[in-house]
Amino acid sequence: MEPTRPLPCLLLLLCLPSCPGEGAQAGQDFKVQQPQDTVSVTAGQTLNLTCIVSERGPLGPVKWLKGWGSGNETVYEQTGSFPRVTRAVAESSTDFSIHLRDVQPEDAGTYYCVKFSKSLTGGDVVFRRGKGTEVSVHAKPTPPVVSGPGRRAGPGTSVSFTCTAGGFFPKDIGVKWFKDEALISAQPPQVTPGRTESSYDMSSTVTVTLQESDVRSRLACEVQHPTLTAPLRGGYQLSKALRVSPSVRVVAEPSSPVVLNKTVNFTCHVTGFYPGDVAVTWLENGTELKVESIPRPVETPRGLFELRSLVEVQATEEKAGAVFTCRVVHDGQDPISGTAVLRVAAPGGGTQSDQSQPGSLDVIYVVVGVVCTVLALLVAAILYLIRAKQSKGKSSPSARLHEPEKSSEAATQESDPNHLTYADLNFAKEQQTLRRMVEMSQQSEYACIQSSRPPASDDGNLTYADLDMVHLSKAPRRPAPRPEEPGSEYASVQIPRK
Ligand SMILES: *[C@@H]1O[C@H](CO)[C@@H](O)[C@H](O)[C@H]1NC(C)=O
Ligand SMILES: *[C@@H]1O[C@H](CO)[C@@H](O)[C@H](O)[C@H]1NC(C)=O
Repeated sequence: MEPTRPLPCLLLLLCLPSCPGEGAQAGQDFKVQQPQDTVSVTAGQTLNLTCIVSERGPLGPVKWLKGWGSGNETVYEQTGSFPRVTRAVAESSTDFSIHLRDVQPEDAGTYYCVKFSKSLTGGDVVFRRGKGTEVSVHAKPTPPVVSGPGRRAGPGTSVSFTCTAGGFFPKDIGVKWFKDEALISAQPPQVTPGRTESSYDMSSTVTVTLQESDVRSRLACEVQHPTLTAPLRGGYQLSKALRVSPSVRVVAEPSSPVVLNKTVNFTCHVTGFYPGDVAVTWLENGTELKVESIPRPVETPRGLFELRSLVEVQATEEKAGAVFTCRVVHDGQDPISGTAVLRVAAPGGGTQSDQSQPGSLDVIYVVVGVVCTVLALLVAAILYLIRAKQSKGKSSPSARLHEPEKSSEAATQESDPNHLTYADLNFAKEQQTLRRMVEMSQQSEYACIQSSRPPASDDGNLTYADLDMVHLSKAPRRPAPRPEEPGSEYASVQIPRK
């Protein structure tokens, strides 16, 4: 029986790696059909795996295995609990298709539909297997997350921002960066193997030079992936990375020197800063002032903050020239200060506190002062000399001849001729103003002195003045020559009070 021998040997070859022995004869043309070569499924979806086996076969179960060799894993068998798996056609002896719910990236791999047969020892041995279905799980990337620098930076600084997304499959991914909806260029994303074998992670970095206006800017990272119907976006508010330092200015109101004891308002203008918290302190000549309350910063339309702090100071003499400093600490940076000086007008009109003026003005003042003093001394000296002269004249009687028109009131005689001359005489001992008539004769000259109110009883004694000598003597009264001789002259003599 030559021809019968090769058949079991052939069968043996066909059944590699292990032949079921006598049971194999029952299923020589037993087939396990796995029509799907590759299947893609999106994470979260259900995976459908198809497996059709021949009707007649050896005893033994059909199982779904993931992977082959060591590390294989039973995905489904008739006994046991496989909560995510259901048979496509329950109880079927030929259709072993299954549905695997809620596929995860970890589910990616090659799935085998395997027909087992009972071994002689009673265990299950592989009888036939399908060619395997390669399952890839398409995973959407996680929502992108943009991270910025650990600390804030000022305008003009270049700062890196990183966008990360992970757990996606397949590997291809696109990343775009936007700043306020304007596309900005960035390096291609770096894609690295992810948490599981069949997923990837992505990281993309962009560099942005910060600007003051970025306090309102938004950075966006947009991720495109085949699993996505619309791109995913991650955002970053650039204000989180930005620090705009304040400008500090102290204004004194009024700024001009003020009158003593007037109130001066020192206002500290802290403007254009971000973020909005600052610590403001006031110093007077370097010593901290107690200020009741510092107002809260106010946001401006530009998105920056500003603050105004007011300090009222009474311009006392001791405070003249005091330096008022507004010290601002912003975002943990070095303090920024503004100062103003309390200027108090000196009682003399100058400023006590004005240290900004150099000494040139003082020199002018000194020169003017010296000149004025010298002039005053000169005037005083002249006045003294005049006084001295006058007092000298007072001590001794003096006489002065007047023209008649100038001393008309002194003339008492209605019969006064037109061409009379009067003399003013100064007498130290007499207090009353006297009216006198000087009678002139050819030989001698006399002055007749009368008191304003002539005594009722005339004793007949009159005082005469010798105008030549300017001395007075008492003599018996003589009648005044009347009508006067053509050559006579009269003098009026005045005696001032002591
Ligand atoms: C599956 O793995 C087990 C244990 O690791 C092993 O005994 C068995 O032979 C493997 N089966 C296949 C078909 O590789
Ligand atoms: C200013 O006030 C002080 C005390 O407050 C007072 O002694 C002084 O006389 C005042 N000076 C003027 C010019 O008002």
